[in-house]
Amino acid sequence: MKCSRCHQDNPAGSRFCGECATPLAAVCPKCGAPNPPDNRFCGQCANVLGGSTAESMPAPESYTPRHLAEKILTSPGAQAGERKTVTVLFADLKSSMELLLDRDPEEARSLLDPVLGLMMEAVHQFEGTVNQVMGDGIMALFGAPLAHEDHAVRACYAALRMQERVARYADELRRRHGADVQIRVGINSGEVVVRSIGTDLHMDYSAVGHTTHLAGRMQQLARPGTTLLTEATLASAEGYVEVKALGPTPVRGLAEPVPVYEMVRAGSARTRLHAAMARGLTRFVGRDAELEQLRRALEEARAGRGQIVAVVGEPGVGKSRLFYEFIRSHRTAGWLVLESSSASYGKTTPYLPLLGLLRSYFKLSDDDDTRAIRAKVTGGVLTLDEGLKDSIPPLLWLLDGLPDDHPFAALEIARRREQAVEAVRLLLIGESQHQPLLVVFEDLHWIDAETQSLLDALVESIPTVRTLLVVNYRPEYQHAWGSKTYYRQLRIDALPPESAEALLEPILGGHPELRPLQRMLIERTEGNPLFLEESVRALVETEVLVGQPGAYRLGKDPIAIQVPATVQAILAARIDRLAPEDKQLLQAASVIGKDVPWVLLAETAEQTEEQIRRGLSRLQAAELVYEARLFPAPEYTFKHALTHEVAYGGILQDRRRAIHARILRVMERVHADRLSEHVDRLAHHAFRGEVWDKALHYLRRLGTTDSRPSIDTLIGGPESAGYLWIHGEHEHALTVALRDRAVAASFGSFRDTVRANYRLGQIYYSLGDYTSATDALQRNAALLEGDLRYEFFGLAGLPAVMSGAWLALCLGELGRFDEATAQAEMAAALAREVDHPFSVVVAHVGTGMLELLRGEHAKVAEPLEQALVITRLSDIPLLFPVVAAPLGLAYAFQGRHADAIHLLEEAIERTEAMGLGANNALRLVWLGRVQMLAGNPDVARRLGLRALEMARRRRERGHEAYALQLLGEVTRQAPYQDEAQATEYVRAARAIADSLGMRTLATALPER
Ligand SMILES: Nc1ncnc2c1ncn2[C@@H]1O[C@H](COP(=O)(O)OP(=O)(O)OP(=O)(O)O)[C@@H](O)[C@H]1O
Ligand SMILES: [Mg+2]
Repeated sequence: MKCSRCHQDNPAGSRFCGECATPLAAVCPKCGAPNPPDNRFCGQCANVLGGSTAESMPAPESYTPRHLAEKILTSPGAQAGERKTVTVLFADLKSSMELLLDRDPEEARSLLDPVLGLMMEAVHQFEGTVNQVMGDGIMALFGAPLAHEDHAVRACYAALRMQERVARYADELRRRHGADVQIRVGINSGEVVVRSIGTDLHMDYSAVGHTTHLAGRMQQLARPGTTLLTEATLASAEGYVEVKALGPTPVRGLAEPVPVYEMVRAGSARTRLHAAMARGLTRFVGRDAELEQLRRALEEARAGRGQIVAVVGEPGVGKSRLFYEFIRSHRTAGWLVLESSSASYGKTTPYLPLLGLLRSYFKLSDDDDTRAIRAKVTGGVLTLDEGLKDSIPPLLWLLDGLPDDHPFAALEIARRREQAVEAVRLLLIGESQHQPLLVVFEDLHWIDAETQSLLDALVESIPTVRTLLVVNYRPEYQHAWGSKTYYRQLRIDALPPESAEALLEPILGGHPELRPLQRMLIERTEGNPLFLEESVRALVETEVLVGQPGAYRLGKDPIAIQVPATVQAILAARIDRLAPEDKQLLQAASVIGKDVPWVLLAETAEQTEEQIRRGLSRLQAAELVYEARLFPAPEYTFKHALTHEVAYGGILQDRRRAIHARILRVMERVHADRLSEHVDRLAHHAFRGEVWDKALHYLRRLGTTDSRPSIDTLIGGPESAGYLWIHGEHEHALTVALRDRAVAASFGSFRDTVRANYRLGQIYYSLGDYTSATDALQRNAALLEGDLRYEFFGLAGLPAVMSGAWLALCLGELGRFDEATAQAEMAAALAREVDHPFSVVVAHVGTGMLELLRGEHAKVAEPLEQALVITRLSDIPLLFPVVAAPLGLAYAFQGRHADAIHLLEEAIERTEAMGLGANNALRLVWLGRVQMLAGNPDVARRLGLRALEMARRRRERGHEAYALQLLGEVTRQAPYQDEAQATEYVRAARAIADSLGMRTLATALPER
């Protein structure tokens, strides 16, 4: 019996999978009775079984709360599909089947359904979406379809809540029914593609990489009653949750063990700044003017003229940090400070920020039971002022400490709220008569309606009391106190370059080599302190920066700098809040580039000019783009590179491709008379739009790029097998690679085994030992199955793709074309799927070279042209010769001799300039062949001889045979016409071909 979840084969008659404990029996969707999986009708109630599992699943609209459903359905992009960074949560019920089997099915269901209900309730509490209900478990997404800047934290909180609720329910079950239930939860964060939410909210998601898969695995690994997180989730929820590291844990389907964490409880941090404090705050810079304003307001309030100060600014500019510095400065000595902040998921929870404030005022702790709460609140109020005793019931009600039978609890909810607001107001005013009071409300953009009405009431009483009310919020929030004389607003912007430098200096250290990086960081973030800090953190994690904080040095070359996960989440959430048409406009603009000329936008955005104009002004108001210039033609630009990248990153490949191709057409029309000024943009759009002939055309005009090859990063350092091989020292390379593989085997390192096999394949290929090469590469093909195909194992391209491409080549030499084609196709499909430039290039080269071997000359050029474009655009100079050389040969077959010679010569020159030797003899043979076709037999002969010498020196036996073949053909022709010599060459070539099993070459050699 195959398990539907993990595909494990189980002995017939098993009720549960021996591998993952999934029930193997089919549960009747109607009565809940277990049935053998083959039953077509339920043995209990005759209901039809085995229909689509969807029938047994509740429809999403039945379990998605209305306010969420509305938000989701009006969310832009939901229908078309988008790439999103999300947190995926799986939860399932443990031992549900035992419970089902031992009792009446209906009763069993009635005991289990509440657990599912509790899981879903916890998800919805934090605005996640349950997108699958699977019998005894759920799958939920946080951050999709609506992006949430704190999706990881929300998922963790939801897990804690469901564990707690279910545990409470389980206690009751145990007492009443003697039955036991526990849930296992698994969480992971990463990118997914979310598509097509129909009107029934059904969300199709497809995972990019294995975000979803890994979340599922975490759930399966979790002990009942626990929640497991991956590193990716923890990185975004650090400080918000406490975890126990379980260490690297083997996960089925993955080569290397992954670090796993068990969530223990919520952490003490409730805001991002608190979480950052645990890591250590950066030195505070700038903001003198703002601190001065706060200080003045403080003085006024101390003198009895209460004040309100609102600090407004974008996420991450430093609103909370400003408060933090102000509150902890000596100026507030002698003040009672009461702090509170709204939570992103708290809009639907009445009084959430207020509760925090009251709890700290009355010094309540999490362990306090109802009695302790009553004692502390009553004591606190009466000590302050006996006249406030009527405030006690409403305060207790807010804090969940009021006895159920108290008359206050029987009042209408509106009355209770009114009295609660009044009680808090009186409490604060009363307190301010004893000592000056500083009340802090952070993040008003997330405030709930009830706390808002309290604030409004408080604001009215402020001017006559010794109270300073400071609040902060992001620009999208609005309130009605703007006209008050005792109100002032401080707008804070990102740091100016000097301050940004002052912030970075102590973190990075002053080494001169970091200068360009520092400038680049400030430019990319436009001085937003959070974005700066997070970018540095990401650079340290990816080892672009190495060493100690305050004394970093450059590690790896920063080839592609990624947007840090936290920043990505913040920006994605902002973009998702836009109206659908504005979001679409922003995305279209992002495809054009960071700078967006009006003409291009007007032609590509699929909206009328009027709509675009209005949309742009809203995008400017939202501070996502600004007007860069108006003359000679309007041009807009993204606020910072990060916003641009996040907007672009959310668009699906297909749509991107279509827009790029459209932009290319528009540019060619609009700039028809000045194309040369725009060659780089044209090449870029042609490439991204996959208009290959155009891409190649513009790239030629652009000239080649001159960036230094970084062999170390792509191939390995000196003494590594890859390095020795590419420098033509095949025998030495072979020794090293064989040793590497032996070491990898004895240490059981999967990664090193894969790498060694791959290198061995390349080395044996160069040595002409196609059989051994095939053997090594086939080992990889066998190892790299399932998800492992997506692992890089530290190589520059996907080993599954590269091994497949090289295998195709070796099999082609051996004349085993069916197998070769299958390998080449597999490699190409996988490379396309992951869309990774280096891998795509290698796959294309494999395809092109195979066609060459097969003699399908007309099919050689296309894949290689695509590869060449990618090589140039992605700046992979190391691959240039590998691509350009066979493409040159292909052009020669088309009669384009000049192009062919040019490409081949450049390929050979470049390899020589880089000091690379592997397979260059073959390139010389090809150039010789082209020269022969071009009617230059003497050049061809010289090249053949050089190739022969080189191949022999490097022991490239296969290429030696090809050199001999060429020499045979040349010498037979005019002006040499040396039949004896020619026969001698061909005989030698045949001998090698026979000994190496080179069936393809052997067939091509003349009979005599
Ligand atoms: N002036 C500053 N000097 C040094 N570091 C700063 C400064 N301002 C902010 N930071 C740092 O930048 C990060 C983000 O700041 P903060 O949390 O105050 O942003 P915020 O404006 O409150 O954002 P949000 O709207 O998301 O709450 C923090 O780690 C903080 O320490
Ligand atoms: Mg803040």
